[in-house]
Amino acid sequence: MKEFHDLIEDEVKKAYSSAGFDSAFGRVSVSKRPDLCEYQSNGALAMAKSFKRNPFEIAVEIAAELEKNPAFKDVSAVKPGFINFNIADSFLSDYLEKMLEDKDRLGVDEFSHEKLFMDYGGPNVAKPLHVGHLRSAVIGESVKRIARFAGDTVTSDVHLGDFGLQMGLIIAELKERRPELIYFDESFEGEYPEEAPFTISELEEIYPAASAKSKEDEDFKEQAMQATLEMQKGRRGYRALLDQIMKVSVTDLKRNYERLNVSFDLWKGESDSEPYIPDMVQDMKDRGFAHESNGALVVDVAEDTDKKTIPPCMILKSDGAALYDTTDLATLIWRMKDYDPDEVLYVVDARQELHFIQIFRCVRKTGIVPEKTKLSFLGFGTVNGKDGKALKTRSGGVMRLEYLIDDIEEAMSKKISENKDLSPEEAEKVCKIVSIAALKYGDLKNEPRKDYVFDLEKFTSFEGDTGPYILYTIVRIKSILRKYAEQGGNVDEASISNANSKADKDLMNVLSRFSATVRNSYESLAPNVIAAFVYEVSEAFNHFYHETKILTCENEEEKKGYIALCNLTKNVLEKSIDLLGFEAPERM
Ligand code: ARG
Repeated sequence: MKEFHDLIEDEVKKAYSSAGFDSAFGRVSVSKRPDLCEYQSNGALAMAKSFKRNPFEIAVEIAAELEKNPAFKDVSAVKPGFINFNIADSFLSDYLEKMLEDKDRLGVDEFSHEKLFMDYGGPNVAKPLHVGHLRSAVIGESVKRIARFAGDTVTSDVHLGDFGLQMGLIIAELKERRPELIYFDESFEGEYPEEAPFTISELEEIYPAASAKSKEDEDFKEQAMQATLEMQKGRRGYRALLDQIMKVSVTDLKRNYERLNVSFDLWKGESDSEPYIPDMVQDMKDRGFAHESNGALVVDVAEDTDKKTIPPCMILKSDGAALYDTTDLATLIWRMKDYDPDEVLYVVDARQELHFIQIFRCVRKTGIVPEKTKLSFLGFGTVNGKDGKALKTRSGGVMRLEYLIDDIEEAMSKKISENKDLSPEEAEKVCKIVSIAALKYGDLKNEPRKDYVFDLEKFTSFEGDTGPYILYTIVRIKSILRKYAEQGGNVDEASISNANSKADKDLMNVLSRFSATVRNSYESLAPNVIAAFVYEVSEAFNHFYHETKILTCENEEEKKGYIALCNLTKNVLEKSIDLLGFEAPERM
């Protein structure tokens, strides 16, 4: 189905032509003065100069053509040269009826067919998920859903941080604590035990302890670096330990991501690039891209036109260990080989932008990624506390994502339990659903690039531009539809009828923009565009709800029209929040 805006713009362009003007000027915009009209076209003002004519006269001539078109009503030319108009009621209701009938896609045709490879999540193994990883998961999941709805074939990869110094730190610390473990016996050639030598809580204690120790104890740091190197080079016992760390950690990560409604097709990590590193390095040397600098191996990526210094890509440390740059480069080798994507999109903290500039340049220069494959970086801002600084726990520590979700659930559970209609079990389920919506909506309504303040009270409020408010609106509609069915009505048989009031017309106009909203948010990688739309729909619906007798409407035909409009609003809202990555309960 054509986007509604294009549909009306086509008609307006025709009017420009029939009045003898260039149709290219027949652009249409949503009115900035909704009290005066729904849409405007201001081409007359732009054309007046070249025709040396009074713009108002031009507007009058075009308006006369528009009047003849049954798609429009209330057409008027306004000085100095605006054309204001409204959409004919039947033109709008016909369009919405087609959206309603198109149950799966609500009138949105697929508009992109890219093979997209997405890198988001990026948690570090053996470190608990912290709030810094929240946005990558939440924004990445939404962008993935939007891209799939747009028609793209998307492969998502969590890209675990599992190859760096943190692994060496854990190994070195374990070796100090429990040197008797079989993993440290270099002469051992048998099978390593099935069971991991630690639990997730132990692992989460070991890492920070080791990290702190390495900052004070040079010797220990040396050992950790050595262990990292040996692990990277494939020492059997250390690889087995890495596998154990991965197993324990990934189970925990999956549980956390599930709670957030976030999923990945691939659970690959930095370490999966290891087989590609030696050849890559050799090749970069052979072809003269890599050279030595202060003992390290680097590839220059600076360009003459750079306004700031872009440091070289670090390929190997002086001790021969692989670095963050190395694994990102080598990862692109298997991504190209196995997936041949049209685009690789990274959803990572904006502070890593320089790293990705280096990586993108290096893979272009060395031919790892051909020009035809687009490389994109969607950098996001930080989650701050009310003090404007990065969000911390009350005691000043790193905020674990789990605790953050717990806090929201606790606040939400008080509100939900006020509803006595819900059994305790249902209340608990509903509380989880609403909490995730509060968290995700609070994040996604912001432009990804911008920082935002995590404000628990605001996020969990049932009023204002919040997740719970959106869900509340959906639940309200569901309740209307349920009651209509209880009265013997058949929701599926109701079809959209012409607007009866400004309130339902306004709602209908907003709904007609669904298609354009999805495309805009896709093109600008901006879930916030959908979030803003969802809020606009909710506001328009609640206004309509307060102005209109829906279930008590005495005219049966009119009532059916309202029910159909409620149904479409629900479908549009539910599809939209699904694209954002959350869902609505039946009741709350
Ligand atoms: N693990 C990294 C971090 O915590 C993020 C990984 C982002 N993705 C990538 N391909 N580098 O900072």
